[in-house]
Amino acid sequence: MVVRGSGVHLAPGVVTNERLSKLMDTSDEWIQQRTGIRERRFARRGTSSVDLGYEAARRALEDAGIGPGDIDLIVFATMTPAHYFPGNGGLLAARLGLSRTHALDIRMQCVGFLSGLQVSDAFLRSGHCRRVLLVGAECHAAFFPWTDADWAILFGDSDAPPSPEAFAWGTVHRDRAVIFGDGAGAFVLEIDDSANGRGFLGFDLKTDGSHWDKLYVPGGGSASFPYFSPAMYESNGTVPVVEGRQVFRLATTAMPEAVREILRNHGLEVEDLSMLLMHQANLRINEAVQKALGLPDEKVFNNIQRYGNTTAATLPLVFHEAKERGLLKPGDLVAFAALGAGLHWGAALMRV
Ligand code: ACO
Repeated sequence: MVVRGSGVHLAPGVVTNERLSKLMDTSDEWIQQRTGIRERRFARRGTSSVDLGYEAARRALEDAGIGPGDIDLIVFATMTPAHYFPGNGGLLAARLGLSRTHALDIRMQCVGFLSGLQVSDAFLRSGHCRRVLLVGAECHAAFFPWTDADWAILFGDSDAPPSPEAFAWGTVHRDRAVIFGDGAGAFVLEIDDSANGRGFLGFDLKTDGSHWDKLYVPGGGSASFPYFSPAMYESNGTVPVVEGRQVFRLATTAMPEAVREILRNHGLEVEDLSMLLMHQANLRINEAVQKALGLPDEKVFNNIQRYGNTTAATLPLVFHEAKERGLLKPGDLVAFAALGAGLHWGAALMRV
């Protein structure tokens, strides 16, 4: 399976650390030191993950030099769907003018795109389809229970100071507000018989559901009965719970192991790698993984500094940017690695 085309789209609203510090008790220094993030994009009210994904999909199709009609499967990875149901896949198909194309959703958070690659590979290899449009898109902004006045402060549209209550409410979410960002990425994937060893070599994904409560949203599911209630909203139960320190520790051990294992399974060594493209949850996590694998700086590319953690959109964003910057050369061996809510984690190998 090869990537015939890729495309990305970022929510246009830039939110700097300095703007966040106007709505909550945080600082540019704290955020940069602990996460490496300088700014992120957030979608404005009225823009959903389908809208973001549509733009990325359009660009990926253009990059591949094909039209929507040439796609016979859509796979949409997101943890912030436009609606509780139906899923984003069908909504995107409709936006692309497709009414007979199978479309499915993947709910695997930060590992959603990696899983989408594996699923696409399986569909393509089995001959069930010839070409897949895989999209990862997130609109985390919708998680945060802030008012339009709060958003105006964050986007730099207003310099009015928040009320003490709004500042206190903003501070309740500060550990999560600083790490996420909104965007989308898409790949057009196909089997190319003339690829001569190019493309994805394999995938290795794992799940340990016993850590489900390290990263999750308490409300909004059948376990909460009803899905939503005013009390849930007031107790912050619709905002993700992030056990940051524990996830940090798990990520810095599981991701290097996953990379080593997939290399070993293909008879390759860490030294054979040309580039490691990781999920972007925290720059410190990625630096620790790089160190554990003994990789030099030129073999790792990170872009969390400008986008934050874009969950399912991260891997296509980091791949597309590395490609645009000329960091991926024909014949290069690239490893993808990710870990996220579930917990799911894993790696993929690709020959450029
Ligand atoms: N600004 C200032 N202070 C803050 C902020 C903030 N934005 N956030 C937390 N703090 C404070 C805390 O209140 C705490 O204060 P205390 O010591 O007085 O209690 C102190 O900073 C340390 O808090 P920690 O949570 O221990 O901070 P840590 O260094 O672990 O950083 C972070 C938190 C950034 C979340 C980090 O743990 C992390 O990146 N973890 C992994 C993130 C993650 O889970 N990613 C998964 C992706 S999500 C997905 O899969 C859907």
